[in-house]
Amino acid sequence: MIEQVRCARGLTGTVRIPGDKSISHRYAMLSAIAEGASEIRFFSPAADCASTLGCLELLGVPVERAVDSQTQDSIVRIQGSGRAGLKPPAGDLDAANSGSTMRMLSGILAAQPFRSRFVGDASLSRRPMQRIIDPLSRMGARIRSAEGGRPPLEIEGAPLNSIHYELPIASAQVKSAVLLAGLYADGVTEVVEPAPTRDHTEIALEHLGVDVERRGRTISVRGRALLRAAKLYVPGDFSSAAFFIAAALALPESNLVIQNVGLNPTRAALLDVLVPMGAQIKVLNLDVVNGELIGDLHVESSALEGGEVAPEFVPGLIDELPMLAVLGTRMSAGLSFRGAAELRVKESDRLRAVADNLRRMGAEVEEYPDGLRVSGGQKLHGAEVESYGDHRIAMAFAVAGLFAEGVTSIKDAEAVAVSFPGFFELLASHAG
Ligand code: S3P
Repeated sequence: MIEQVRCARGLTGTVRIPGDKSISHRYAMLSAIAEGASEIRFFSPAADCASTLGCLELLGVPVERAVDSQTQDSIVRIQGSGRAGLKPPAGDLDAANSGSTMRMLSGILAAQPFRSRFVGDASLSRRPMQRIIDPLSRMGARIRSAEGGRPPLEIEGAPLNSIHYELPIASAQVKSAVLLAGLYADGVTEVVEPAPTRDHTEIALEHLGVDVERRGRTISVRGRALLRAAKLYVPGDFSSAAFFIAAALALPESNLVIQNVGLNPTRAALLDVLVPMGAQIKVLNLDVVNGELIGDLHVESSALEGGEVAPEFVPGLIDELPMLAVLGTRMSAGLSFRGAAELRVKESDRLRAVADNLRRMGAEVEEYPDGLRVSGGQKLHGAEVESYGDHRIAMAFAVAGLFAEGVTSIKDAEAVAVSFPGFFELLASHAG
């Protein structure tokens, strides 16, 4: 599907972004191994989260999907039967495009007394899995992969031992896989992060009654844990909100309120980078729900200075970097960042994808092995761009289309459904 976007003057009104994808995955997996019935409100409509629910169902977990007739919120009810309640799957577990599903659920499957086989789509089948195979094998699981540590994975679960593991890369998915496996191990499992990454797993585990300790960069979890079933609420997805934030800042006549956005500091580094550059963003109505910070954002058109993003911000805005780079063309000094080689192994090679598409739109971009430098004050022109089957690339270039001259056509635009079904319709209904 090709989606066409025309330039707009501004984004206005009040918008509610769908539930957070990262948090929805975690609440679903943890509810599946909790004691009793959980209810998850505002569960993400992302195709990725549907993959997680599908895998859980194949593992014998009863899942009910509903919609609240008054608020229209999506609700997922999951009947957990405790840590040992999963059943051998009758067929392959299909994670489709979802790295989070495959990597995090592998942590749980590593401890099961049965064998599972995990498959993914063409994009996921190219992504590195050695990063979870290493620690989970050290804990006692036997995991076979295709060449180069790629999917499919065959996981033969086993009784696990606890480990002390120093993560070689900053990855919340790998950290979570080890912590989830640690729930089944004897003793205390410790993970040391090279840099802080999103801490939704730790927050959720604490909320469900698990003994989690955090000291500096070390997170530990006591094994043989019992998880309480709970009523949970998912905040709006900050990474999805980022496209609306960027569009509102860049367009000259914007005045936009984004309600109920997850503002966990390990996710919202985009704000820490943009506000000192001149972004007019106000945080309103802060609250804490299930241990997660949530609030509304008021975003107005802004003149942005730009500059270099320090590497320590990178893990906290890893998913927002493609959008930020595109926004860099609107900044007076442009934008550059390094230390983001991980972007090459996401749903697409995001450094290459951003550089190629920006060039098609007439921009000057320099590509580094681990970053990008985008010149400032550039006027983009509409062009045919590729999504590379990657939801965040499709959305970043839809926003570029709003501030480019003429018409921008985005190929394979249906990829947006991986995290944000209805994205184009919602964007168009607020763009004027
Ligand atoms: C995620 C962690 C990040 C992020 C991904 C979701 C998570 O991946 O890019 O979109 O939910 O934990 P890595 O763990 O590979 O950094």
